[in-house]
Amino acid sequence: MGKLSMTMKLGSSVILLLLAASVFASDDVNTSKKPNFLIFLVDDLGMGDVGCFGNDTIRTPNIDRIASEGVKLTHNMVPAPTCTPSRAAFLTGRYPIRAGLASKLSGTMFGCNACIGGMPPYEITFAEVLKEVGYKTGYLGKWHLGIHSSYEDYAYLPNNQGFDYYYGMPFTNINECADPPNGRNSVRSLMRAGGGLYYLASITAVLYSFCYVSKWFGIVSSRGFVISLLMATLLSYLLYMYPESGNRFLCILMKNHEVVEQPIRLENMTVRFTNQATSFIRENKEKPFLLMMAYVKVHTALFTSKQFAGVSRHGQYGDNVEEMDWSVGKILDALDQNGLKDNTFVYFTSDHGGHIEEVAVEKGREGEREGGWNGIYKGGKSQVWEGGVRVPTVARYPPSIPSNTVISVPTSTMDILPTIAKIAGAKEPDDRIIDGREMTELLFGKDKMAVHDHFFIYCGPWIHGVTFRPDKGGIVYKVIFTTPKWTQGTQACFHTWLCQCSGHFVDHHDPPLVFDLTNDPGEHRPLQLTEETKALIEKARAARDEHEKTVVPVTDQFSLFRAVLFRPWLQPCCNFPYCSCQEDDAHALHSS
Ligand SMILES: *[C@@H]1O[C@H](CO)[C@@H](O)[C@H](O)[C@H]1NC(C)=O
Ligand SMILES: *[C@@H]1O[C@H](CO)[C@@H](O)[C@H](O)[C@H]1NC(C)=O
Repeated sequence: MGKLSMTMKLGSSVILLLLAASVFASDDVNTSKKPNFLIFLVDDLGMGDVGCFGNDTIRTPNIDRIASEGVKLTHNMVPAPTCTPSRAAFLTGRYPIRAGLASKLSGTMFGCNACIGGMPPYEITFAEVLKEVGYKTGYLGKWHLGIHSSYEDYAYLPNNQGFDYYYGMPFTNINECADPPNGRNSVRSLMRAGGGLYYLASITAVLYSFCYVSKWFGIVSSRGFVISLLMATLLSYLLYMYPESGNRFLCILMKNHEVVEQPIRLENMTVRFTNQATSFIRENKEKPFLLMMAYVKVHTALFTSKQFAGVSRHGQYGDNVEEMDWSVGKILDALDQNGLKDNTFVYFTSDHGGHIEEVAVEKGREGEREGGWNGIYKGGKSQVWEGGVRVPTVARYPPSIPSNTVISVPTSTMDILPTIAKIAGAKEPDDRIIDGREMTELLFGKDKMAVHDHFFIYCGPWIHGVTFRPDKGGIVYKVIFTTPKWTQGTQACFHTWLCQCSGHFVDHHDPPLVFDLTNDPGEHRPLQLTEETKALIEKARAARDEHEKTVVPVTDQFSLFRAVLFRPWLQPCCNFPYCSCQEDDAHALHSS
């Protein structure tokens, strides 16, 4: 009896011990197994370019796989349809104007690596949010949010925005980077459209006046005056022409703070990025990690490795999309191989719609579309229309996100920061306005409500449109105040290469145009001006005014002084004065 109860006691304490151990163990597992995050951002990919969004001739099986194992977001929007502002908004969950990435006077992107515009370091990215809770973070690919902030300080690079590791192009891929030159010049086109010429005219005027004043006060002789005028002319000319030497100055590859290739050789770049990504995953599989893969594709200059040349049914552009999809697949495979599939949140999106104005000029390929396809949606990159702001987006996180689901209510790329913070158990910044909304309930299929009341579509510092759903569960409306003036017979601005935001480049609508996006996603039929539509317009205006009250003026990062003026002393250069080097490909296979 005594023996038996002893045994029982012993037995139950053993069970208790085991239970306690298992409780502790599972606690341990919970903390050590925080979910990983794998974020794909493609450049200029349109709604019509992806299989699961209805394209039956392009092959994107890997993006489609994310959708079938997870969710497809059919009305996901960016708050500004150009690269730099859209990317800043994505990383920080805030409208880009809050970071000074919206300018009245100039364009909507940075013009050089040796400029001093950038996303201010005081902005908090989702990488910084995750680092607070012990994440290892990596950023691969296109950055385009600046390098130096005044002197050589690397203040804007990913390494100073929460990423432990960075490998990629600090600028953007542009036509100047093409491995065989493609005869086009994106930066020049942009400068022309964005006021670069006015800027250079003013610089020249200032320099000339300086020469005249010097002569007036007898500081220079007549001969000195002529020489100074010549020098001033030469300087202005160089300032205007520097993008012409684009590929050496602009197309560079960096690893953390070091320039590892100059100019970049694009051909095998996607393979190199893919290898970097898979090594990063392998090396960090024990830790919770965040990896962001921001492809320099499918932006022009188009490029593929040899194995993808000529494989698609849609020319070089299609080849580019298919190689990008291949890379997505390789990186997803790396998750599988390291047993991380179920513990990794995967999100795939684009920074804005396809760039319609990008058309080939090379012999034999004249007129071939190189800038993506926005499907049934109107317009494209740099426009308020759905073709500019709606982006193909899929996400996967088994088992929390049910497979094969579709979310059609409006969401935004800005929602990712709060959503990631929530999933990782991290705190979203509380000392500033976060415009994105946490959307786990929506993603996990627990709620079908839209997370945004009103969504503002910016072009520079101006709000060109507002998308909203006044009644819960009802129709999604869009009120458009301003639209770009298209080149006749097209849905794009071929005359300026990218649509501009203001002045004689746009039409203001009073009354504004109102569309029922639920029933007319192609924005073909503006609604009649009834009492009901007038009420919608009033609602949109009121929301816009309320929102604008929350926007505090900050330094304009796109000012010509910051975003266009080339400062030779800040030009990244791997081996001065040659500025010419190549990355050893074997070395490229290792991420750190
Ligand atoms: C599929 O994508 C290609 C490449 O952008 C495009 O040319 C084609 O029109 C698209 N097809 C459909 C059905 O959307
Ligand atoms: C790309 O890789 C292929 C095959 O490995 C090689 O033949 C080619 O030279 C590489 N291209 C460049 C620009 O390095």
